[in-house]
Amino acid sequence: MTDTPSRLAVLASGGGSNLQSIIDHFDALGSDAPARVALVVSDRESAGALERARTHGIPAVWLPRERSHELGALLAEHRITHVALAGYLRLVPPDVVTTFRGRLVNVHPALLPAFGGPGMYSHHVHEAVLRAGATMSGPTVHFVSEKYDEGAIIAQWRVPVRADDTPGTLATRVLAAEHFIYPRCLASVCAGRTVLAADGTVTGVPTFHVERAPSSVPGSP
Ligand code: GRF
Repeated sequence: MTDTPSRLAVLASGGGSNLQSIIDHFDALGSDAPARVALVVSDRESAGALERARTHGIPAVWLPRERSHELGALLAEHRITHVALAGYLRLVPPDVVTTFRGRLVNVHPALLPAFGGPGMYSHHVHEAVLRAGATMSGPTVHFVSEKYDEGAIIAQWRVPVRADDTPGTLATRVLAAEHFIYPRCLASVCAGRTVLAADGTVTGVPTFHVERAPSSVPGSP
């Protein structure tokens, strides 16, 4: 049991299935949850993530692109301690990256450092993986730094690529793995177990109970 649970903000541009997996995981942890989702922010007014937040009684804020410089003030206003990017397609303002260093985390749907960087998001990632003939893909959870997809890696989960995969089928299996590892990584970061050291290394890397992974999650850490 944590005395004062961390207050996690989730930033999302899309449907918010990762947000849902985070809410569900923290719910399942009950009083042992090291954090609660205290704010959801989206750059898209119609994002499903905002709707999911409202359903759960979580403050949901639409912050359009031209007002993204207000993000830091918004996070402060909601007394946010940690930030999770979950399919957020905007660059996080530098002041937020600095303020939340070691407390700002992203999930990327490929095994970084491969298939990352500007332009590598959603289906573009899976198309590139298949085009390259990679036999392995899977999500990467990492701390966010100033450069796209280059922050210190917290965890990865290897999902085999099938010969008959399309970007859509691969995305579905990778997303299932995201839903398994991302909430667990966030819980570990919010609990202070997983830490970004001053030299850029990560200590207290989370371990996963593979046997608890749902059957929809193929592959392994
Ligand atoms: C996920 O594949 C995530 O890795 C990527 O965008 C997708 C988000 O999906 N960055 P959702 O909005 O969480 O359903």
